[in-house]
Amino acid sequence: MSQSIDPSLLAGLEPEQMQAFWMPFTANRHFKANPRLIVGAEGMYYTSADGRSVLDGFSGLWCSNAGHGRREISEAVAQQVQSLDYCPPFQFGHPDAFRLADRLAKMAPADLNHVFFCNSGSEAADTALKIARAYWRAKGQGSRTKLIGRVQGYHGVNFGGISVGGMVGNRKLFGPGVDADHLPHTLLPENAFSRGLPEHGGEEMANRLEELVGLHDASNIAAVIVEPFAGSAGVILPPKGYLQKLREICDKHDILLIFDEVITGFGRTGSAFAAEEFGVLPDIITTAKGISNAAVPLGAVFVRDHIHEAFMQGPEHLPELAHGYTYSAHPVACAAAMATLDIYENEKLFERVREISPYFEEAVHSLKGKPHVVDVRNYGLAAAIQLEPRAGEATKRAMEAVLGAWEDGVLLRWTGDTIAIAPPFIIEREQIDKIVETIAAQLEKIQ
Ligand SMILES: Cc1ncc(COP(=O)(O)O)c(C=O)c1O
Repeated sequence: MSQSIDPSLLAGLEPEQMQAFWMPFTANRHFKANPRLIVGAEGMYYTSADGRSVLDGFSGLWCSNAGHGRREISEAVAQQVQSLDYCPPFQFGHPDAFRLADRLAKMAPADLNHVFFCNSGSEAADTALKIARAYWRAKGQGSRTKLIGRVQGYHGVNFGGISVGGMVGNRKLFGPGVDADHLPHTLLPENAFSRGLPEHGGEEMANRLEELVGLHDASNIAAVIVEPFAGSAGVILPPKGYLQKLREICDKHDILLIFDEVITGFGRTGSAFAAEEFGVLPDIITTAKGISNAAVPLGAVFVRDHIHEAFMQGPEHLPELAHGYTYSAHPVACAAAMATLDIYENEKLFERVREISPYFEEAVHSLKGKPHVVDVRNYGLAAAIQLEPRAGEATKRAMEAVLGAWEDGVLLRWTGDTIAIAPPFIIEREQIDKIVETIAAQLEKIQ
């Protein structure tokens, strides 16, 4: 099979060299027979192995928010590798870790003033869940261990994250996880083709938390974790009032509320954090991706004063939290993040999201009425076009549309039977048009 691959798609690799790399979340055999190799990136565009310019309609993977090849970041990274390539984060520190955490804390809403660094969204989720459980133990309520996630939620791939996560494909292979239960998702048929936050069902869906509290008892529940809007499952938005009501119920029962802002953080909604955009203050926020424009892996967990304070007790010579990673606050990641935050600020990129998102909304909703389209959802610079699944071949329709778009020069992503769009914040109107026209053409083409 490998012999028949067009050499222009292989970027100089021998077909046999395609075999060793076990690709993540990828149909390996399909990919290796039809490679989609990317060899360069600049601004809004990727360069494919066969020399085509491909418009990035997905910020890489929800992460290159400021576009690609940003010199400010690469220069900061190069300089950092030369001056301090690595510093142990346990029992030692480097000034930029403190500088970055201080800057991030000032950006975060209210008293989310303390930042724990990790390297990815998955690590951020598991860090947050561990902090929640350890918090209750520190408060003398060690029975509060159960974690509540949500059906269709995505919190990365580690055991804590998949336990609270609600995408069955990511859970079913891996046996028992961490003790968790799940709220229902908020994708309601009556909200189809909503623009922005849907109207219906907010309070009602959030009230399902009361049922879970009734079942498990608050004295056993540590935290509720949700994405402000579910990204990976296909831009599932919270109906109006939903997040407010979740906060209210968590307050009533003294349950911590965690927002997983790995996608929504750093501008995707038009605010630095969705917590701010939606006016709901969680106890913990997890972030990654856009924090460093994805140039170097970095994750950060923000916690409120009262949580941090609960740990700052006991003998001062002992670590307050037995948790951390060799690469927590890696100097190179911190340098990339500092340069990224400078770009966001200097170019006012979050404001730009707010300015351009009405145009984006109008454009994506023009796909209503195209073949197979059963829903269009959007917020900020994120949108999903949901397709009717082809009988007996779930996900194939969206996959074919996205693969066709790649051929036509636009990178998108499919998840289930949904086509997802999440471009970098530097996108221009004509590029939005190009994305939408390309999807429209694919919808006409596919069966
Ligand atoms: C909300 C959310 N949490 C966690 C993750 C996991 O992040 P990572 O792939 O960096 O581990 C993702 C990734 O898409 C995400 O969308």
